[in-house]
Parts: sequence; structure tokens; C-alpha cells
Amino acid sequence: MKNKIQELLEEVQQFNANALDDIEAFRIKFLGSKGIVKELFADFKQVEAASKKEIGQALNELRTQATEKVNALKSSSSPLNKQPKEEIDFTRPEQPVSLGARHPISIVKNQIIDVFSRIGFTVSEGPEIEDDWHNFTALNLPEYHPARDMQDTFFIEKDPDVLLRTHTSSVQVRYMEEHKPPIRTISPGRVFRNEDISARAHCIFHQVEGLYIDTDVSFADLKQTLLYFTKEMFGKSKIRLRPSYFPFTEPSAEVDIYWGLKTETDYRITKGTGWLEIMGCGMVDPNVLRNADIDPEKYSGFAFGMGIERIAMLLYQIPDIRMFYENDVRFLEQFKSVI
Ligand code: DAH
Repeated sequence: MKNKIQELLEEVQQFNANALDDIEAFRIKFLGSKGIVKELFADFKQVEAASKKEIGQALNELRTQATEKVNALKSSSSPLNKQPKEEIDFTRPEQPVSLGARHPISIVKNQIIDVFSRIGFTVSEGPEIEDDWHNFTALNLPEYHPARDMQDTFFIEKDPDVLLRTHTSSVQVRYMEEHKPPIRTISPGRVFRNEDISARAHCIFHQVEGLYIDTDVSFADLKQTLLYFTKEMFGKSKIRLRPSYFPFTEPSAEVDIYWGLKTETDYRITKGTGWLEIMGCGMVDPNVLRNADIDPEKYSGFAFGMGIERIAMLLYQIPDIRMFYENDVRFLEQFKSVI
């Protein structure tokens, strides 16, 4: 019996399978309910007492090795299991991936940045929580100016020196404090005003500020820059500048572009005039330069500021400013194809 077990052990050790069926046949042969191991254990009863220990050990060894062999061949590392169970068609299209959409405010902001960066403007940013100096005083806003009224400005914790910036012009001041001319920068950002919310006004909105300072900068440079911008941004090449007032610029102007009167919407948004106001601008007031330690005798410059929501509403014919902040996916999804 001992010899027989030894032969069977060798058979187990040498066994290899080419298919899962072979492994199963092997398992039934050795370990099945009528298999060799079972049979040998039945015969074991007749083994004389003196050999019982030795043969019992050999028999156990045979059973262990046969079991391990089956497990090893069936295991995941066995090449037999690496065969794909079904054919995979690699040319089939993937499950459709749902792409997000950029917010229209970001789209328009990026377009504005793109247009100005092509003529050498950098992008700069400043804090949304500002102090009085950067938001008002340095910008030549006298204390009695209506823009300082509590109605317009959100103050933080009743401290009149800590406020939410009411415009991105504050970044002009910060930029001039840190950079000396020549300066060419635009500053996009979020601004806050204590206003009633309606279809055309919101207490949170976005602006882009522009600042250009160098020697011999004239109003003609400002006009040319604005004309370039309106052509690139809107494809419109007719603009007009109306005299206006801003404390930080002198002279100041409001910029209108000729939108035309072709459609009913044109009539509505231009109130029947064909002209549309898109930004404020002017030559930087010498006081503002002086406040930032820039010599107004040596340098001059221009500045402008525009609202991003207003431009996005124009470009995409969005009727209500509140739609930008409602996060309604039916609205936002419409901008999927725009980068
Ligand atoms: N800060 C102004 C506003 O919020 C916009 C503005 C007007 C900015 C004229 C300027 C400027 O730089 O020159 O309404």
C-alpha cells in the first residue's frame, strides 16, 4: 500500500491541466466521493497496527497534495483563468460621459481676459473684503460721496473700515502700490452692493477693471483700446463716449456701443436708441496716482470698469440677472458647448 501511495503522490505532483475540465476530472478521480483517496482510507482499516502511523501519514499527505494541486490550478494566478470569458469589442463607444458646463460668468470673464491679454494686459486680483482706503479714499472718493452711503456698502461688524468691496477699482490701488509703471492690467472679480434684488440688479455681481499707466498716455489711447475691445468682444465697431463723472478719473466717460435696431430685442435692450452702455472709463485722476506714490507729472494713464453680468446678459440674451445665481441646471447646461 505504501508503494501505491508513493506512486499516486508522484502522479499528483506531475499533474498539469490544459483546461478547466481536466482539473475537474482530476479532482473527481482523487478527491471525489468514490475517488482514490476515499478508497484508500477505506482500505486503511485493514492495515496492520505497526504500519498504521506511517501509512496514515502518507495517506494524509496524498490527500493534502491533491487538494492543493486542484486549488493551485483553479486559482486566479493560473493561466487557465486568464482567458477572457467573453469577447470584448474594443471598438464600441464608451458609456456617454456627462460633461459639466462652464458658468456663463466664467465664459465671459475668460473672453474678456483673452481679448486684453492679446494686447499685453496682465490679470491681477485683490481681496473681496477691503478697507476704506483701497475701496474709497485712495480712489479720490470724498467722504460725502453717495457711493459711501450705508445703503450701497456692506460693512463688516459695524467697523466702517472693513467692508465688502463695492467695485474692482480697489484692485487698481493695490496694483499701483506694488507695481511701478508701465502698468497694463485687468482685474476681474466679485463685488457687493447693498441693493434690492431685481431682474436687472443684484447685491453680488462681477466686474472687470482695467488700468493702463505709462508716460504720454492720452485719451486717444483709451479710445483705441476700447474700440479694439468692442470689436473683438462684440464684433461691433461703432462706439461713443459720453461725458460722465467718476471720482477716480478726470475726464470721465461712459462708453456706449452701437448695437443696432434690427430686431425687436434690439429695440427693447437699447430702449429704441440702438445704443447700449457697457462701461465707465476715464483718465486716472492725478490724486489717485499720487495716493499710490506715482508721479502725475511723469506718468498718466486710463482706467475702465465694466460689469460681467451685463455683458453676459447681452451676449446670451439672458433676461434676468437672478438666473446667474440660481444654479438651475436647465439654465447652466445650455452653456455646455461653450469653452
Ligand atoms: N468703479 C466703477 C463702478 O463700479 C466703474 C468704473 C468707472 C471703473 C470708470 C473705472 C473707471 O476704472 O475709470 O461703477
